[in-house]
Amino acid sequence: SDRYCVFGHPIGHSKSPQIHAAFAEQTGETLSYQAIEAPIDGFADAWREFAAAAGRGANVTVPFKAAAWRLAETLSARARRAGAVNTLLLDDAGKLHGDTTDGVGLVSDLAAHAAPLKGARILVLGAGGAVRGVLEPLLETGPARLVIANRTAGKARKLAADFADLGETAGGGFDEIAGPFDLVINGTSASLAGDLPPLPDALFADGGLAYDMMYGAAPTVFLRWAAERGARTVDGLGMLIEQAAESFYLWRGVRPDTAAVRERLRRSL
Ligand code: ATR
Repeated sequence: SDRYCVFGHPIGHSKSPQIHAAFAEQTGETLSYQAIEAPIDGFADAWREFAAAAGRGANVTVPFKAAAWRLAETLSARARRAGAVNTLLLDDAGKLHGDTTDGVGLVSDLAAHAAPLKGARILVLGAGGAVRGVLEPLLETGPARLVIANRTAGKARKLAADFADLGETAGGGFDEIAGPFDLVINGTSASLAGDLPPLPDALFADGGLAYDMMYGAAPTVFLRWAAERGARTVDGLGMLIEQAAESFYLWRGVRPDTAAVRERLRRSL
């Protein structure tokens, strides 16, 4: 059967093998999908080894998304702009194509939760690779305004300028945040450390939604903080499943039903 995998470091806790096995079962596609821990400095070799062993495509996660971007021989327009590749596939001519499905995954999950997007005031926290990767699809939903706030203010300002052609953007430090916002997306890695960026109390508009790109068995510190301030909260498990579905579609041309997998995975956390 056709072989796929996810490369990361570490990769032990990845949910991707479970998700893709569920998609394959559901769609009747015959494929195998494994998790591979590539050495930190050995991503390109790990891909070559996998391809030589009949690997047809791969997902790429932390810390290899930029290395995958450099390795790909062709890039989708959205991957080129994101500066990151989370999906690799060999095209019919045997060329390695790189794409990114993180941004569409986020927007699909936001839409599934009826998040305010068109005409909304959106705040994005963080200005690293994870945020860069989702800005284009977010701006394409037509927000009134998208503000990027980051611990290092200059990075947020640069990102806002880089994407200013796609909509009304602004960037700055956490101390410059002037709410309220209809949607606040946490794209910092602060949750990992159990940290909360310094945020003003009056952050959310009435009916505002807090979204954390991270997920876990318990709500993140950001989502707990947001819930205490009356916001509706959603974690990033759905984004993980939606980006996987989009990768599956790129590889197989079939769209899995994500809702069924979402419930199963939530119970397994
Ligand atoms: P990723 O690929 O996950 O985006 P990254 O490029 O290292 O990883 O970016 C991490 C992001 O989380 C950055 O925006 C970082 O802020 P800085 O640019 O100021 O470094 C942010 N971040 C990490 N730890 C944080 C913390 N404890 N508080 C606030 N922001 C944090």
